[in-house]
Amino acid sequence: MEHFLEFADISKSFPGVKALDDISFRANGGEVSALIGENGAGKSTLLKILSGDIRQDAGAVLIDGGEKKFLSPNDAIKSSVSVIYQERQLVPLMTVMENIFLDDLPKNRFGLIKRTELRDKTKHLLAKFGLDISPDERVGRLSVAYQQMVEIMKAYRRDSMIIAFDEPTASLTDNEIAILFKLIRQLRDEGKVILYVSHRMAEIFQVSDKIVVLKDGRLVKTMITADTDENALITAMVGRDIGDTYANLLRNENVGEVLLEVKNLTTEYVKDVSFTLRKGEVLGFSGLVGAGRTEVVRAIFGIDRVISGDIIINGEKKEFKSSRDAIDFGIALCPEDRKEQGLVLFRSIKDNVTMPVLGRLRRGIFLDRQRERQLADEAVEKYSIKTPTVDKITVELSGGNQQKVILGRWTSSMINTKLLILDEPTKGIDVGTKAEVYQMVCDFARGGIGVIFISSELTEVMNLSDRIVVMRNGKITGEMRREEATEEGILALAMQE
Ligand SMILES: Nc1ncnc2c1ncn2[C@@H]1O[C@H](COP(=O)(O)OP(=O)(O)OP(=O)(O)O)[C@@H](O)[C@H]1O
Ligand SMILES: [Mg+2]
Repeated sequence: MEHFLEFADISKSFPGVKALDDISFRANGGEVSALIGENGAGKSTLLKILSGDIRQDAGAVLIDGGEKKFLSPNDAIKSSVSVIYQERQLVPLMTVMENIFLDDLPKNRFGLIKRTELRDKTKHLLAKFGLDISPDERVGRLSVAYQQMVEIMKAYRRDSMIIAFDEPTASLTDNEIAILFKLIRQLRDEGKVILYVSHRMAEIFQVSDKIVVLKDGRLVKTMITADTDENALITAMVGRDIGDTYANLLRNENVGEVLLEVKNLTTEYVKDVSFTLRKGEVLGFSGLVGAGRTEVVRAIFGIDRVISGDIIINGEKKEFKSSRDAIDFGIALCPEDRKEQGLVLFRSIKDNVTMPVLGRLRRGIFLDRQRERQLADEAVEKYSIKTPTVDKITVELSGGNQQKVILGRWTSSMINTKLLILDEPTKGIDVGTKAEVYQMVCDFARGGIGVIFISSELTEVMNLSDRIVVMRNGKITGEMRREEATEEGILALAMQE
C-alpha cells in the first residue's frame, strides 16, 4: 500500500500572529513535496507540528488516513515521522554508529553494547546508500553535511515513513548538496513521504515532484513541479512578479579612491592574501565553504590575530585589537553564523538591532528610547521583518526573520560605516527580501561605502559584485570583474589544486 500524509484544517496562533490558518493538503509516498513561502509564512511551524514539538490549535495530522495525536517528539518518532532541521540534533561526542542506533543499541546480557554487531549493522546501512563514513568516527568531527547524513540514516534506521527536511542545504557545498539529493531520491523511490523546505528555487526544481506554497500562514497554491517555472513560483510566493532582480538594481556608477588595501595578510587560517577595495565598490568573495573567506574578514575586523602582512585603510596601517575598535572606526561585520556570533536570542528585536550603537543612544544615564525604537522600526520596515512588534524576542521569529534582524543591526542608519562586510547575508532569506538586500548593498556603495560581500551562491556574487575574488584553501586563487565572470571560471578557481 502506498503511504500518505495529510494535514487537515491545521491552524496555529502565537501571540499576535496566526502562523497557520486552516492548512490542508496531502503528501504522497514516493514523492517529494516541497513546501515554500516567504520568511514567516509558517513552514517550520507546520513541520514542528508534524514532529510533535508543538501542538496545533485546531485540525489534524493523518497518516495513511488515521489521525495521529503527537504529544511529544517521541510519539512522532514512534509513528515513523522524522524531521531533520538545519541545527543538528546528534550527540557530538558519540560515534556515528552510536548516534544512528541511539535508542536501540544492541546489548548483551550484561547490558554492554555489542560493538561488533553495531558496527556491522551501521556499515551495512551506510553501504546501502553509498556513504563513505566510518562507523567509529565521532560525530562532532564530521562536516555539517556528513552529520546531516548520519541524521538521515538515523531516521531511516527507525523506519521512518515520513521524512521532512527544513532548509537542509543552507550550510552545504554544491558537492554535498548533490549527495544529499541522491539520498533523498533513494528514500523517495523506496516509497517514503518526503517534505522539503527551501528558499533556493533551483533546488526545488531539482528535487521536488509537487510544490505547496504558503503565504502568511495560508495555503495559496499547490503545483506540479514539472508544470511550472521559477517565475510562476515566485509570483505565487510573493504575491507579485518581482521581475529580473539583477537587471533592476540601481548600482553605483562612480567608484572612488582606494579604501582598503590588504597586503600579504597571513593568519593562522589564511595565507598571503592581498586585495584592494575602493570606496563605493562591491567586492565579492567566492569559494567553497571553508575556503577562508570568513577568516579574512575576521582578521580585518580584529577577531583573528594577524601574523604578518598589512591592513591599510584610507592610507593608514590598521590593526584592530578587538571588534569594538573596528566598530568604532567604522567597520561593520554582519557575521555568517547568526546564532553563534550574532543574535542574542532571548532579547528583543529592538535590543538586538541597537546593540552596536547603545553607547551613542545614551544621554547621561538615560537611554534615548524614542531613537532606539525608531532604529528598530527602520530595520523592520527595510527588511520586511515579520513581527507584531519590535519588542518580540528574536527566538520567536522565523529563521529568515532572525537573519534580517542581524542585517538590520549592521546596516542601521546610526552606524557610521566606512566599510561594510556581509558574510552570507542572504542565508535563509526569501527571494523577495533577497532583492531588497541586493539593493541595500548597492545603496551603501552609492553612498561611497566599500562593501565586501561573501556568498556561496554563485549567481548572487556574480551578479552583485563589481569585482570578484575567489579563494581556495586559505589563499586567493584569482580575481575578475563582473563583466568577465562566468560560473565555470569561478568554479575552476574555487577548486584549483
Ligand atoms: N515560539 C513562537 N512564539 C511566537 N511566535 C512564533 C513562534 N514560532 C513561530 N512564530 C511565528 O510564527 C510565524 C511563522 O513562523 P515559521 O518559523 O513557521 O516561518 P517559516 O515559514 O519557517 O519562515 P523562514 O523561511 O524564515 O524559516 C512567524 O511570524 C513567527 O514569528
Ligand atoms: Mg523556517
